[in-house]
Amino acid sequence: MKTRAPQIQDLTVDILTGIVDGVIVADADGRVLIWNRAAEEMTGITTADALEKSVRDLFSGNDAVVSQIDKTCSSGRSYSDYEAELAVKHGLPLPVGLVTTLMTDNDGRPRGVILTIRDQSGVRDLKERMRRSDRLAALGLIAAGIAHEIKNPLVGIRGAAQLMQSEVNEGDRAEDGKNLLEYIGVILKEADRLNSVLEGILDFTRLKSPEKGRHNIHSILDRVLLLNEEQALQSEIVLSRQYDPSLPDITGNQDHLVQVFLNIVKNAVEVMPGGGRLTVITRMSDLFTSVQADGRKHHLMVVKVSDTGPGIAQEHLADIFAPFFTTKDSGVGLGLALSYQIIQEHQGTIRVESKAGEGTTFSVYLPLAE
Ligand SMILES: Nc1ncnc2c1ncn2[C@@H]1O[C@H](COP(=O)(O)OP(=O)(O)OP(=O)(O)O)[C@@H](O)[C@H]1O
Ligand SMILES: [Mg+2]
Repeated sequence: MKTRAPQIQDLTVDILTGIVDGVIVADADGRVLIWNRAAEEMTGITTADALEKSVRDLFSGNDAVVSQIDKTCSSGRSYSDYEAELAVKHGLPLPVGLVTTLMTDNDGRPRGVILTIRDQSGVRDLKERMRRSDRLAALGLIAAGIAHEIKNPLVGIRGAAQLMQSEVNEGDRAEDGKNLLEYIGVILKEADRLNSVLEGILDFTRLKSPEKGRHNIHSILDRVLLLNEEQALQSEIVLSRQYDPSLPDITGNQDHLVQVFLNIVKNAVEVMPGGGRLTVITRMSDLFTSVQADGRKHHLMVVKVSDTGPGIAQEHLADIFAPFFTTKDSGVGLGLALSYQIIQEHQGTIRVESKAGEGTTFSVYLPLAE
């Protein structure tokens, strides 16, 4: 057994270095004995800076961590907190799971405390996405019911207005002297607008299990760009395509995907009425994989659509995918909500980055076909 001790020690070091959880061990006085690589990455504090220091001082900006260590030391019990947040140097707070355990010697006397930290950002992200898609699904059902109820009377209103239009003469005036035909025109125009809102809502409920096939993403994007070409030209927008021609096909529903990129490109064109640059980039994504219904992991590719428009205000970033969120006078606010739903149906994801005054980039991740 003796000869194996150095081997086991090496192995322990390898395990502590390789493990994805942060592992921190402090002695009975609270001095740090072990601070592994994952702990370095999560806290932004290097092992060299942490060793021998007081664990309570190192976590001085994290009251919850310190109090959990104290509780474990005083009670001798383990404590877990899976909803904790770690304040991190030079970064956003990291959502983590924290487990503190008392370390004892052979006689059961306390020798120190072990703290394990698990990065939960992926899990939180997933939970948030699930919550959002649940909300959308429920909303979709209710909205479809309402849309259906409104559509019929709307047809009646529009029909009656049309009848009036044919009965009224060019010169007929209301009491205030306004042309009656103008009023009827307003009714017709607004009825049409309402109808397009209702159509948009009903699109949501038609999304379920569309037929999917193999498609080249570039032909989908080219189709979308062609449809926007005229408006882009009018607004003096410079279009730049940076495609990776070696990208494999994706699996999906062509019409729905066209709709997604149409919404995103249309938004980009709409925020640059005085000119700008629209860049469409495609490439393999090295960051994301997604587990599909077939239980296998698929690589993801990414389409990035960037504009040089005014950007999205920080306080709006969380809302832009919500149905009916719009900052435009004539917007409906369904473009991105619908796109989000479609990309979810494709087991992909949409991300957005935006800087006020500099522009916005929408990144659409889609799984590659086998
Ligand atoms: N590229 C962009 N730059 C700045 N803001 C954007 C951009 N894309 C979307 N937005 C913001 O997100 C909101 C929601 O977009 P969305 O496409 O869902 O609705 P909309 O464009 O307002 O209306 P519509 O339903 O007609 O598309 C927009 O009103 C705008 O405030
Ligand atoms: Mg839009």
